[in-house]
Amino acid sequence: MAFLLAVACIYIVSLLTLLVLLVEASRRRTAVGAGKTGGGTTEQDQKLPPGSLGLPFIGETLQLYTQNPKDFFASRLKRYGEVFKTHVLGCPCVILASPEAARMVLVSQAHLFKPTYPPSKERMIGAQALFFHQGYYHLRLRRLVQGWVGPDALRALVPDVEAAVASTLRGWEGRVTSTFHTMKTLTFDVGVVTIFGRRLADHVKEKLRKHYLIVEKGYNSFPIPVPFTSYSQAIKARRRLGEILSGILAERRARRSDDQGDDDDLLNTLMRYRDDSGAALSDDQVADNVIGVLFAAQDTTASVLTWILKFLHDNPKLLDAVKAEQMAAYEENDGGRLQLTWAQTRRMPITHLVILESLRMASIISFTFREAVEDVHYQGFLIPKGWKVMPLFRNLHYSQDYFQDPHKFDPFRFKVTPPRPGTFLPFGSGAHACPGNDLAKLEMLVLIHRLVTTYRWQVEGSSDDVTYSPFPVPKGGLQARLTRAAAA
Ligand code: HEM
Repeated sequence: MAFLLAVACIYIVSLLTLLVLLVEASRRRTAVGAGKTGGGTTEQDQKLPPGSLGLPFIGETLQLYTQNPKDFFASRLKRYGEVFKTHVLGCPCVILASPEAARMVLVSQAHLFKPTYPPSKERMIGAQALFFHQGYYHLRLRRLVQGWVGPDALRALVPDVEAAVASTLRGWEGRVTSTFHTMKTLTFDVGVVTIFGRRLADHVKEKLRKHYLIVEKGYNSFPIPVPFTSYSQAIKARRRLGEILSGILAERRARRSDDQGDDDDLLNTLMRYRDDSGAALSDDQVADNVIGVLFAAQDTTASVLTWILKFLHDNPKLLDAVKAEQMAAYEENDGGRLQLTWAQTRRMPITHLVILESLRMASIISFTFREAVEDVHYQGFLIPKGWKVMPLFRNLHYSQDYFQDPHKFDPFRFKVTPPRPGTFLPFGSGAHACPGNDLAKLEMLVLIHRLVTTYRWQVEGSSDDVTYSPFPVPKGGLQARLTRAAAA
């Protein structure tokens, strides 16, 4: 009976999956057909890039998901060159794998391409989050976010990041656990303190964490809108998150004006904002952006932090050099009794190089998506209106043309030969480039400081396989044991 039920479930899920793909594919085909212009261009300009669109409806999605994405793109790059077409996730796409092409899409001709996300993902985060927009709305929200994580704000944030790091590592002491999960706790805690300030009650924070985790699981699952799937649970949890945020907003509004708490947190920044006509952001706009930033900040940073632990663990000589650099700051701070300062985080040259090389090797954002808003002609090929374009970052970072011996972890390469412009894009480029990159780097610096001065960590089992969750991390999230160093 259980077996029959399981077969029936698999059957229903497969049918629904196919249905979603068919609807999506037919929607895309309509968009593509409508976009063809033709007039005034040569036959050559009407030529689609080389490559395969794979099977009807499914395209090459299965290949992308069953292979390591790096290999999926690398094999096609070898066969077709730096501009080729494919069909993944229900959309025809042009893949672009050169620094010039990435610049064209993200910077110089960015007006010809709009940000694009599957509707299910947009719904999960909230349609008013800045990533989904262009133009004035995007620009003003981006300015707010950039200001909130600018140098002055980060300087004030060092003690909070240090406290979050200390508490996370204390909770890990003496146990074997997934580094990635531990790092996710850390990046969530840093996200919450930067967004909501220091006054958020613990029980509210835990409610946020609980619902956020359900939303995150659904975000990364296949969007099947039937009860009890991760997706539909996530939709419910997203609604609940919205309600919790409304409660926090109402409470802040009720506070006396002379008691605004942490003035520089993101929530206050968004609540205080008025546009040229004096209009404030709506509660939904605030909520979508708060959840969007939390999403953008958490798994990304946690994945890179996990890789940093692996790379340092696997390179003992380098670890010694980093440790020597960090011990100097530790001694300066009276054996860790004083707090790390912003100025000290600016004087950690080897650690900075380790962070850059970890960002390159981890390349956790392998590519980004845009959609052509009109027919675009590039290098003699047509990118039809409505098609997706995907500038690849990871393949640039692993290209022999730009990084010598690219599979070797060598932080000093960034000192010897700084990368050519446009070849190192861990945080993207152009109008949508990551505004949180300095916050992410601050978290990395503070974690490395506390880790190497106070602890030892031992990786358990093999850490050479990679899983995608959805960002690449060592298999099992890098199982490791953390112990306090004898001197500490
Ligand atoms: C190592 C950690 C991180 C990496 C590798 C990373 C990477 C990226 C990349 C590649 C983009 C551009 C995507 C595109 O062009 O489509 C981006 C955008 C963004 N990131 Fe990050 N990010 C990280 C951490 C953070 C943090 C800590 C924050 C918190 C403020 C953040 C907030 C954002 C936001 C809000 C955007 C959208 C910007 C826009 O559309 O204008 N990220 N990130």
